[in-house]
Amino acid sequence: MDYNRAEDRIKEILLEESNLLQCVVDFLYKSFDHYSWVGIYIIRDNLLVLGPWRGEQATEHTHIPIGKGVCGSAARSGKTEVVDDVNMDDRYLACFTSTKSEIVVPITKNDKIVGEIDIDSDQPAAFTDNDIVFLEKISDMLKEHI
Ligand code: SME
Repeated sequence: MDYNRAEDRIKEILLEESNLLQCVVDFLYKSFDHYSWVGIYIIRDNLLVLGPWRGEQATEHTHIPIGKGVCGSAARSGKTEVVDDVNMDDRYLACFTSTKSEIVVPITKNDKIVGEIDIDSDQPAAFTDNDIVFLEKISDMLKEHI
């Protein structure tokens, strides 16, 4: 195969891969009314780096150190974080004034945390056990695509 063709095809493959995560984010955002902002953070050099996201506004928190905020806490512990009232949680890094509650679900691959799903809701205490079970399944599906 010609090297240039191979390079172009690999670029396409990588683009499809990133579109795939974006498609999942878009689907989650439009499928559940209580998901007001949906994003995937990916761990790079000990930082959570924002990947695909969907919501009304961009967040300024595109790079979050491990251990900082609700996102950083989940990345450190490897455990799902549910915050029913973001204004009552000292760790919370504010992104949108409309956000009332948040869920962060780590994505773990071979016992290593590689990223996380972060969802904000404009409704207080929006996330139930159903969301936790569902999003942990999605996180498990996504681990091969990070
Ligand atoms: N609220 C998060 C920061 C990310 S934004 O919600 C998109 C946190 O406390 O880590």
